[in-house]
Amino acid sequence: MKRVGFIGWRGMVGSVLMQRMREENDFALVEPTFFSTSQKGGKAPDIGQEAPPLKDANDIGELKSMDILISCQGGDYTGAIFPRLREAGWQGYWIDAASTLRMKDDAVIILDPVNMPVIEQALHDGIKNYIGGNCTVSLMLMAMNGLFKEELVEWMSAMTYQAASGAGAQNMRELLLQMGEAHRVAKNLLDDPAAGILDIDREVAGTLRDENFPTENFGVPLAGSLIPWIDRDLGNGQTREEWKGQSETNKILGRGERTVPVDGICVRVGAMRCHSQALTVKLKKDVPLDEVEDVLAASNSWVRVVPNEREHTLKELTPAAVTGKLTIPVGRLRKLAMGGEYLSAFTVGDQLLWGAAEPLRRMLRILVA
Ligand code: HSE
Repeated sequence: MKRVGFIGWRGMVGSVLMQRMREENDFALVEPTFFSTSQKGGKAPDIGQEAPPLKDANDIGELKSMDILISCQGGDYTGAIFPRLREAGWQGYWIDAASTLRMKDDAVIILDPVNMPVIEQALHDGIKNYIGGNCTVSLMLMAMNGLFKEELVEWMSAMTYQAASGAGAQNMRELLLQMGEAHRVAKNLLDDPAAGILDIDREVAGTLRDENFPTENFGVPLAGSLIPWIDRDLGNGQTREEWKGQSETNKILGRGERTVPVDGICVRVGAMRCHSQALTVKLKKDVPLDEVEDVLAASNSWVRVVPNEREHTLKELTPAAVTGKLTIPVGRLRKLAMGGEYLSAFTVGDQLLWGAAEPLRRMLRILVA
């Protein structure tokens, strides 16, 4: 059995990974060791089987004794530890949720329902680094890969509606605090059916702009508002999150020089853990809509085409409907007024599942198969 070390299993993505691995009985296939940056010698988490006491996550010697390491500890840890491990001659497989190594030539971005041939080729070529993709990119590809596979996409614009979870656990808490605060200041007026809505709105707007409104993590209100900027400024008008759309999509698909342009505006909204995206696709030809639907639906076992009707859309195509699920609904499919080659789509996915933990546990499965 392969010796597998887990780092960062207590954080949000790590906890979802642990939960999914227990659900799928993955631990039975490996000899797990849990690492900690702070609690060496402590008790390993309950995974339904024996595991040794926690090892030090900064001990290169201990890490080196593993066949496979899976890290959800974040980019700083990867940046500090990974090069030292390789310098020390470690030949094992590194599976990582952070973006640090994603675009390196000796790393593959893993999303096996979409790019299993790329992963297989990399394994054959002796590549040892397998990195989870950006959540919006992975969720978009889970929904839209059928069209890429059929070489139907000339370009794509992705306008995102990204959940608080993508910014971190503290941000999810802050969103709820903000919601609570907005409700608190409006409560008396809300309880009075005769109160005017503009008075209620004035109270809420006042608290959103109040210097005591809780914005330590987001910097500005998200509840009752939105934030059209995610991640760093690349200095060319594009954010790093927006840059990932094209660079990671093409890398995941292994397209080399045959780049498909993907671009758009990434926006944080007050959803908890589901990212949504409004997509405009320029098709290479005027494919009938029913064929588009068939191609999308056939692309993997998780994508679900939602009929472009009000009832279905409200019931199946929202963050509230999708949260905690592995299914990837895609709907609002129609040809736009610009012509038959212009397709609209809207998709929603849980960013902690297919957007983070799921590709990692599936890569482990591939390695231990
Ligand atoms: N960068 C993403 C976000 C998180 O901020 O929503 C996961 O890739």
